[in-house]
Amino acid sequence: MQISLISAMSENRAIGLKGRLPWPHLPNDWANFFKVTKGCRMIMGRKSYDTPDRLASEVGNFVITRQEDYALEEGFTRAGSLEEALEACKNDKEVFVIGGAEIYRQALPLADIIHLTVVHGTFEGDAFFPAFSESEFKLKSRQDFPTDEQHAYAYSFLVYEKTNNQ
Ligand SMILES: NC(=O)c1ccc[n+]([C@@H]2O[C@H](COP(=O)([O-])OP(=O)(O)OC[C@H]3O[C@@H](n4cnc5c(N)ncnc54)[C@H](OP(=O)(O)O)[C@@H]3O)[C@@H](O)[C@H]2O)c1
Repeated sequence: MQISLISAMSENRAIGLKGRLPWPHLPNDWANFFKVTKGCRMIMGRKSYDTPDRLASEVGNFVITRQEDYALEEGFTRAGSLEEALEACKNDKEVFVIGGAEIYRQALPLADIIHLTVVHGTFEGDAFFPAFSESEFKLKSRQDFPTDEQHAYAYSFLVYEKTNNQ
């Protein structure tokens, strides 16, 4: 099983503010998210599940929570820890960890691939993508996009691969 993280962060690493994305909607980022994650199950923290901007997979989703009786909508399965969710996906070809900050922090040491959209601006945040070193993850590809009528900020799609996987 390949463990992939996917996130969008600002230049100051903000990923969320009060449960929302810090920047105005960037449709091409969401399109990229669904293209990259197509056909794979997703793992998310309970707080990300609870946000209005929640993203989810058509083929199955795990929500990590310590609350044993937490009621979830159809298509979502509770897991008591990241390890429990990963164990349930162990026969999948690839699984995506989709946030938020607490879950990214726990998943980063286990990640094989990181898909990171960098939104070129500085935004206030209360959730941040964890720092990682270029010696742990090597940049494999980068696509840059300018602002346009639908995208108020320039952004880049970066893909990192864990160095010891090469
Ligand atoms: N820009 C992006 O790509 C992106 C992606 C996703 C989310 N976000 C943003 O990130 C923010 C949310 O991130 P967050 O860090 O506050 O929360 P989070 O990581 O989504 O969820 C945290 C919750 O996960 C559960 N949890 C964490 N570790 C656990 C463990 N080891 N065992 C069992 N349960 C565990 C706990 O749920 P309980 O409290 O229920 O026990 C905890 O409160 C929001 O603003 C959201 O919009 C941004």
